[in-house]
Amino acid sequence: MTAIPSILDPFPREREYLLLALSALQEASGTNSLGPESLTLAAEHFRLSRAEVFGVAGYYSMLSTETRGKHILRVCRSPVCRMMGSCDLLELAGSILGISPGETSSDGMFTLEVCECLGNCQEAPSIMIDNKVIGVSNEAALRRLIQEARTGGKSDG
Ligand code: FES
Repeated sequence: MTAIPSILDPFPREREYLLLALSALQEASGTNSLGPESLTLAAEHFRLSRAEVFGVAGYYSMLSTETRGKHILRVCRSPVCRMMGSCDLLELAGSILGISPGETSSDGMFTLEVCECLGNCQEAPSIMIDNKVIGVSNEAALRRLIQEARTGGKSDG
């Protein structure tokens, strides 16, 4: 992991850069999360109160103060995706990964989450896997996406 201060260095000390900086800190964490040390240093960097920075980290669903898996798989639960079967997709993802929403797989590879509209309603039901938003039309497509994430995009066959 890169040292936290050097991750923050490129960000101007203006409030509007806080969210970007927190995302960068989370990405560099190795745990897909923001620990107290990162949040405190962000507060110092932006000259904000710890409460404000902790509040931002708690408000945005893309940020987490809890340790998460290497890959985050989010299933949209907004109305269009729900109508198109996202509840079944969530259940299927949970069964493939052996976890429930909010949990991390025992190998630390995946955390399963639910989320609101991903702006990809035209391909509903949609998921987000790490930073990629994609419509998932069937079980095979979901299994393939999970496998690709697991192997870093390399085929196992
Ligand atoms: S409702 Fe799921 S992407 Fe919009």
